[in-house]
Amino acid sequence: MTSIVSVHSFRGGTGKSNTTANVAAVLAGRGLRVGVVDLDILSPGIHVLFGVDQDGLDHHLDGYLWGRYPLRAAAREVTPPGVAGRIWLVPSSVAPHDIARIMAEGYDVGLLGEGVRSLAVELELDVLLLDTHPGLNEETLLSIAMSDALAIVLRPDHQDYEGTHVTVQVARRLAVPRTVLVVNKTPESFDADAVAQRVTEAYDTPVAAVVPHSEELMVLSSGGIFVLRHPDHPVAALYAQLADHLVGVRA
Ligand SMILES: Nc1ncnc2c1ncn2[C@@H]1O[C@H](COP(=O)(O)OP(=O)(O)O)[C@@H](O)[C@H]1O
Ligand SMILES: [Mg+2]
Repeated sequence: MTSIVSVHSFRGGTGKSNTTANVAAVLAGRGLRVGVVDLDILSPGIHVLFGVDQDGLDHHLDGYLWGRYPLRAAAREVTPPGVAGRIWLVPSSVAPHDIARIMAEGYDVGLLGEGVRSLAVELELDVLLLDTHPGLNEETLLSIAMSDALAIVLRPDHQDYEGTHVTVQVARRLAVPRTVLVVNKTPESFDADAVAQRVTEAYDTPVAAVVPHSEELMVLSSGGIFVLRHPDHPVAALYAQLADHLVGVRA
């Protein structure tokens, strides 16, 4: 059985893609077979973290949604060197005409669910991570509904608070078995334990990690995967802790 895990935030730029890529690398580092799907179809980006060049990229989630090929054909292996497990990524297209077509014509959201489930089976995935679009739209609701676990990323910022409440409520209604919060970009001057306690109480939902606003993450600037570049950094341990919360037990 594949564990399906969605990573969501109400607002953009919160750290979903970095969180997803790092959790993928942690889990693959434990020998697991991990899939990642870029469900942020209107503003894709996680491919950058995995070093995928979109020049000439002709297989992507968009093409699957237009019925051109099965989703498996859009999955490319992106396992970094030296990692025990494997990682496959389904990128979304950054070509303006593809994004414009999705915006103009929409697509059959039901196909997403079918594609994701068959991808999990065909690649014999242990875990499938869904990197979502901010806010709530149809594909986000669908991905939350089919998830075994959901990570909601928020910043300690008043603009994030209400929206996070919305997603927490949606996850409860959709009966997601495991929902955790990730407080990201926390100022170094904040006390992480106090932040975790406040946020846990405010949302009545466990906080899996309080990740600092990290100079090293800023410098990496999505040019790679943090836990692979800085395996001994305290932030890498936080991503490992988050991975533990999301997939339950260590493989
Ligand atoms: N904990 C952090 N500390 C510093 N910068 C971060 C942190 N998390 C993410 N970032 C930076 O924030 C930006 C947005 O991150 P990203 O993962 O793309 O967010 P999202 O997918 O939610 O839009 C990127 O430039 C990334 O490097
Ligand atoms: Mg993103």
